[in-house]
Amino acid sequence: MEHYYSSHPSTDHDVEEIDEYFGNHNFHFSTDSGVFSKGKMDKGTRLLLESLPPLTNERALDLGCGWGAIGIILSKLYPMADIHLSDINPRAVSLAKKNAKANQVSVTLHKSDMFENIELSFDMIVTNPPIRAGKETTYAMIKEGHGHLNDGGTFFSVVRTKQGAKSYGEELERVFGNAEIVNRGGGYKVFKAIKDESR
Ligand SMILES: C[S@@+](CC[C@H](N)C(=O)[O-])C[C@H]1O[C@@H](n2cnc3c(N)ncnc32)[C@H](O)[C@@H]1O
Repeated sequence: MEHYYSSHPSTDHDVEEIDEYFGNHNFHFSTDSGVFSKGKMDKGTRLLLESLPPLTNERALDLGCGWGAIGIILSKLYPMADIHLSDINPRAVSLAKKNAKANQVSVTLHKSDMFENIELSFDMIVTNPPIRAGKETTYAMIKEGHGHLNDGGTFFSVVRTKQGAKSYGEELERVFGNAEIVNRGGGYKVFKAIKDESR
């Protein structure tokens, strides 16, 4: 079976157009088979978005962007912010690019396995991590994310309580030296960790 985190999706296309409402804006997105959460915005993704602080001109990364919900919505809400989106899955990256255009936001897309093709550092990294890809991947995102944050930068993530949220929180704590649950609901927990300049 092919997974949504494939770096070479070969499933037939099956595009589904959806409308989502967030923060007083209507969004139109194309979703497709072979990309996470076809046909709707994931509940964890919505909870994560609801938990984020407002941005001004910070640089933020939607790590593992899928069809682009997080990065595109952030860019619409905070047009002065420098928003980047990345994914290992080329089908996700091209959908996110198309969706950014459809929603008239200006963002930067990266087709990248983790930070392989991203040399920048960020004030905020936001991720709904690919739990099905396994701890090796989700923990590497924490470690590499920590390395690509500016001092005082924040790492926000959402994990389903039953899909290892406890151990995920412990790994955040181990890498960042701090981790806090800032929101919960519908079986999900949203974590925030802050990069401390001494680590
Ligand atoms: C749970 S999905 C979240 C997608 C989107 N952010 C959302 O909330 O709908 C996780 C995403 O991480 C991507 N991913 C998996 N492994 C990755 C890696 N090594 N580097 C970058 N992205 C990866 C997957 O392709 C997938 O799109």
